[in-house]
Amino acid sequence: MKKLFVKTYGCQMNAYDSARMADLLAPLGFAGTDTAEDADMVILNTCHIRERATEKVYSELGRIRGLKEDKARKGGRMLVAVAGCTAQAEGEEILARAPMVDMVVGPQSYHRLPEMIARLARGSGERIEADFPALEKFDNLLEAVSDAGVSAFLTVQEGCDKFCTFCVVPYTRGPEHSRPPEKIVAEARALSARGAREIVLLGQNVNAYRGTDARGKVWSLARLIEAIAGIENVLRIRYTTSHPRDMADDLIAAHGAIEKLMPFLHLPVQSGSDGVLAAMNRQHTVEDYRQLIARLRAVRPDMGFSSDFIVGFPGETDADFEATLQLVRDVRYAQCFSFKYSPRPGTPAAAAKKQIAESVKSARLDVLQKLLMSQQDAANRAAIGMTSDVLFEKSGRNPGQIVGRTPYLQPVHVEAPAALIGTVRAVRLEALTANSLKGGLI
Ligand code: SAH
Ligand code: SF4
Ligand code: F3S
Repeated sequence: MKKLFVKTYGCQMNAYDSARMADLLAPLGFAGTDTAEDADMVILNTCHIRERATEKVYSELGRIRGLKEDKARKGGRMLVAVAGCTAQAEGEEILARAPMVDMVVGPQSYHRLPEMIARLARGSGERIEADFPALEKFDNLLEAVSDAGVSAFLTVQEGCDKFCTFCVVPYTRGPEHSRPPEKIVAEARALSARGAREIVLLGQNVNAYRGTDARGKVWSLARLIEAIAGIENVLRIRYTTSHPRDMADDLIAAHGAIEKLMPFLHLPVQSGSDGVLAAMNRQHTVEDYRQLIARLRAVRPDMGFSSDFIVGFPGETDADFEATLQLVRDVRYAQCFSFKYSPRPGTPAAAAKKQIAESVKSARLDVLQKLLMSQQDAANRAAIGMTSDVLFEKSGRNPGQIVGRTPYLQPVHVEAPAALIGTVRAVRLEALTANSLKGGLI
């Protein structure tokens, strides 16, 4: 067997793609390894969302170059591929900056990897594949045979047509496309047969899902969730990432009606200021967002929320930032991600005149993160003494311990037999440690 090392950056969709690339290369004799040293093939599945994400890729390529040279000195060969969003955005530039890279393959073209490897072996042909053939890749992926894991990702929708003024995703992932519902339900069924008990439906705009079935009927995400909920061994369903604009009535209603749909939603708002939202081209107001949260809480009172925030977007004033803090105080989030605005080449906001000083961005991020951490901490503390359903996913670090998650994604460590992995049990939450809860089976 040849050794394949895949390193994944960025979002869950990249994690899904990395697993598919490994499946695709298995028939060529590649088996996964968890170190780049001595690997026969290295794939960096990259992210381009912020400047720092892209820098990380180039510094890792520097390290890989050393390993590739070591291997060559020993008479071996290491193939290096750059996949993912940086591959899509920078193509040629990657080959110019890191000439030892053998191939560059975009997020919609990686089904061509086996063909690219063959071409390379023949010493001929193009080293870059970066088209957007609409969903062609899904038809070319192989049925996976490996263990699925208790919680499994399933990409249902790709791409983005929203063009938020700060974001590279519409350029790196291409236009919105939804996979046919039958294929998704079949994949969910196959995942559950391979041990998955939780299915996480993925899309850059997952709630914009509109898949056409063989009879020409269009399915919404709510309808797709309902169909997957009908699979007996699927115990939990989640979906991410949603856009507030696509939070349709039937999807909100599904949260009140489908027991397997978890009462937790990642619904990024980015900012609590209408002026900033408009400049970001988010196409909704703060009040629209507040109403969505209220409607979801009305159908499912125990609903928990998370969000992404950007601070220091061009033109953001102290008052705009204060409005973001006020929204956070009002919503009370379970957990969030927050970032300093990072200008991305080619996006409209990068050319805006009123860029915010780095020191101001840092100070704002600090204030926001303190508030978000205090909310997360409060949510965890409030859980202590309560009983919660936990889906056990794997063994813990200490012997005799297994780890699972509450409906709100909080990790919980419990002393219990490994045979319970893959099942949902009622757990009494007893204590809060650094990053997780400790509990006992009831
Ligand atoms: N499709 C998702 C988000 C994809 S990117 C959505 O619409 O919400 C994940 C997060 O990265 C975004 O929600 C945003 O908060 C952040 N992000 C995207 N571009 C960024 C940039 N240029 N600078 C800082 N953060 C950014
Ligand atoms: Fe980026 Fe906006 Fe599309 Fe999300 S909705 S991927 S933030 S352009
Ligand atoms: Fe990054 Fe691309 Fe995902 S830019 S966040 S890997 S869609």
